[in-house]
Amino acid sequence: MMEPILEGAVEVHSYLGPGDERTLADDVLDGLTRPLKELPPKHLYDARGSQLFDAICELPEYYPTRTERLILETHADDIVARTGAVELVELGSGSATKTRVLLDAMAAAGTLGRYVPVDVSATTVHSVAELFCDEYRGLSVYGVVGDFERHLAHLPPPAGPRLVPFLGGTIGNFPPGSRRRFLRGLGKVLGSGGHLLLGTDLVKDPRVIEAAYNDSAGVTAQFNLNLLHVINRELGANFDVDAFEHVAFFDRQREWIEMRLLATEPQRVRLEALDLEVEFAAREELRTEISAKFTIERLRGDLAAAGLDLVELYTDPDELFAVSLARCA
Ligand SMILES: C[S@@+](CC[C@H](N)C(=O)[O-])C[C@H]1O[C@@H](n2cnc3c(N)ncnc32)[C@H](O)[C@@H]1O
Repeated sequence: MMEPILEGAVEVHSYLGPGDERTLADDVLDGLTRPLKELPPKHLYDARGSQLFDAICELPEYYPTRTERLILETHADDIVARTGAVELVELGSGSATKTRVLLDAMAAAGTLGRYVPVDVSATTVHSVAELFCDEYRGLSVYGVVGDFERHLAHLPPPAGPRLVPFLGGTIGNFPPGSRRRFLRGLGKVLGSGGHLLLGTDLVKDPRVIEAAYNDSAGVTAQFNLNLLHVINRELGANFDVDAFEHVAFFDRQREWIEMRLLATEPQRVRLEALDLEVEFAAREELRTEISAKFTIERLRGDLAAAGLDLVELYTDPDELFAVSLARCA
C-alpha cells in the first residue's frame, strides 16, 4: 500500500522511551561484566557524541566521508534514474550532509517526495527534519527517533519507489553474523521495487585506516571517551575519564578497526543505577566499536547471503570506499 505524501509536512516520532534508558543499563550490565569488556557503539551518539562525529567527518585523516560524498556526487543522477526513487528512508542518518546530494538529484529529476531519517540521536533527527523541510520545497519529512535494530516496524508504508541509504560505513559496526541478519531484515523496509544504497569502507593500506581513527587533533579520542561521560551521566557512574586512553588499531586478520578505551591505572567504578561495582585492572581495555572494512567479495557474499542482488557497485578512483546499490533478489 502506498502512503499519500503530504507536501511540505514535517513530523517526528520517537520510539525511545523511558524503557530505552534500560537498553543502556542492560547493555552496560552485560558488557562490563563480561571477561572481555565491550559496549555497543550506538551509545557513543548522545548530542555531544553526534557533534564530535560530525567534527571527525571534517578531519583531514578521515577519508571515508569526503570519498563517499564524491562517489554520490558522481553517481547520484544514475542512482535516482535507476531506482525512480520518490522517497529516501535513511538509516543512521546523523546530520545527513551527504544526503543532500541524493535529494538534489531527486529534485532535479522531479521525483522528490519524502525523506525519512532514522537515528538514535533525537537532536540530529529533529534538526535535520526542520532544516530539510525549509530547504527543499514541497518535501515531506517523517523523522524516526529510534534504534534501527528494533524500531523499523514503525516506519510508514512506502510512498512510492523507496531508496534506503545506509551510509558512512555504519554497517561495518555489526559483527559478520549480525550484519547478515540485519541486511536480511531490510527486505521488508525496501518494499517491492525498493533499493538499498549501502556505503562501506574498503580494505586498504592499514596505515591509512589507522590514521583515520587516530587523528592528530584527538577528536576521535574525545568521541570515544565521551561514552564514559554518557554512562556517568545516565547511570550515576563515577568513571575517572582522565584515567582512560583512546586506542584504535586495525585487526589484520579480521579486517576491522577496533576502538577501545584503556584503563591507565587500576580503577573501581561504581554504577549507582545498576547497584554495581566494576573493576578495571591497569591496562585493561573496554571495546567500544568495531568497524569492518570490506573487499568486493565480502560485500557480494554478505548481500547474497541476505537475499539481496547487487545492481551496481560505485567506487572512487583510488578504491578507498564503495557505495552499493542493491535490491531484493
Ligand atoms: C558512523 S555515523 C554515520 C552518520 C551518517 N550516516 C554519515 O554517513 O555521516 C552512525 C550514525 O548511526 C546512528 N546510529 C548508530 N547506531 C544506531 C542504531 N542502533 N539505531 C539508529 N541509529 C544508530 C548514530 O547516531 C550516527 O548518527
